[in-house]
Amino acid sequence: SKGNHRHYMLKEIYEQPIVVAQTLRSYLQRMEEQVTLPIPDFDLSAIKRVTIVACGTSFYAGMVAKYWFEQFARVPVDLDVASEFRYRAPVMEEGGLMIVISQSGETADTLAALRHARSEGQKIAAVVNVPTSSMAREADLLLPTHAGPEIGVASTKAFTCQLAVLAALAANLAKAKGRLSEAEEKALVKHLAEAPAALNGALAYDEAIQAMAHVVAAARDVLYLGRGTDYPLALEGALKLKEISYIHAEGYAAGEMKHGPIALIDDAVPVIVIAPSGPLFEKTVSNMQEVQARGGKVILISDYDGIEAAGEGTVATITMPKVHPLIAPLVYAVPVQLLAYHVAVAKGTDVDQPRNLAKSVTVE
Ligand code: M6R
Repeated sequence: SKGNHRHYMLKEIYEQPIVVAQTLRSYLQRMEEQVTLPIPDFDLSAIKRVTIVACGTSFYAGMVAKYWFEQFARVPVDLDVASEFRYRAPVMEEGGLMIVISQSGETADTLAALRHARSEGQKIAAVVNVPTSSMAREADLLLPTHAGPEIGVASTKAFTCQLAVLAALAANLAKAKGRLSEAEEKALVKHLAEAPAALNGALAYDEAIQAMAHVVAAARDVLYLGRGTDYPLALEGALKLKEISYIHAEGYAAGEMKHGPIALIDDAVPVIVIAPSGPLFEKTVSNMQEVQARGGKVILISDYDGIEAAGEGTVATITMPKVHPLIAPLVYAVPVQLLAYHVAVAKGTDVDQPRNLAKSVTVE
């Protein structure tokens, strides 16, 4: 049931601290300060290349994971939406691991990609939320998310749980490759374990987000900008908004703005900038200022330090708790989800059952 919540989507957004904690429990050994996998004897040390394939929001989780696998494990990563992966001629060499990511475990294109990779001799890992699904059954390495049933068509808690699993998998791969010292492993465990509390901190901004939703609800077009792991979040933010509010939205890598999309900017286009303070902050803020100089209405999502440093000129800010960069994608997913939710409610659309969409896409 929806409990006290008006929509399943809102209930599922609010469940995130609990389900992420629940998911992390099967991947982190808190006492030993170690990361592990549910199938401990699966050998990751021979993996030479990773191919990540998924659709929609699950694809964006995969896009965040690409940064992590490359950064921590130094393993090259190929990433594709399933419907494209199937119809190009991907080169899959020995020692490759295919990772499919899917809430339902039944998405037709992702399942077909899994089968194709298997026929090409790849090992298959599946990050899935439905443990009885086809993908779960057909994988060599089943990596469950413990989000519980997700009813809202817009995926929310499945996404943050996927990120939790993928971060743990990246750490395991790094470990298997001899690229993670004990001290680094301890630190990763500590940061990941902080995610549930940080998600709670992010939820505390719900009312403030609701109060600013009208700025976005009045728009015809909305842009989302981010850099690094915030780039996939920008794409996810735009997808969420389109799906449930029917407002046209696009996510861009912040640095791509001047290569075209900046031509769209005027005072009718809200631009949501996702920029936690950290090594990429300055660069993103300078892209933000380019938008402001052209009259764009910037809504900045950052932490207190970031918002201070960015200075005047935004129409609104959303303050997130200050978190380690590893868990920032999980934490920043919350304001992005809440903003889409409140905009859709303000517009009076059917949040849980948006038009033309199905929860699980089992046809190609
Ligand atoms: O069940 P899956 O994770 O494989 O589904 C993939 C997409 O269909 C799904 O994420 C879709 O994009 C959602 N409606 C996004 O909110």
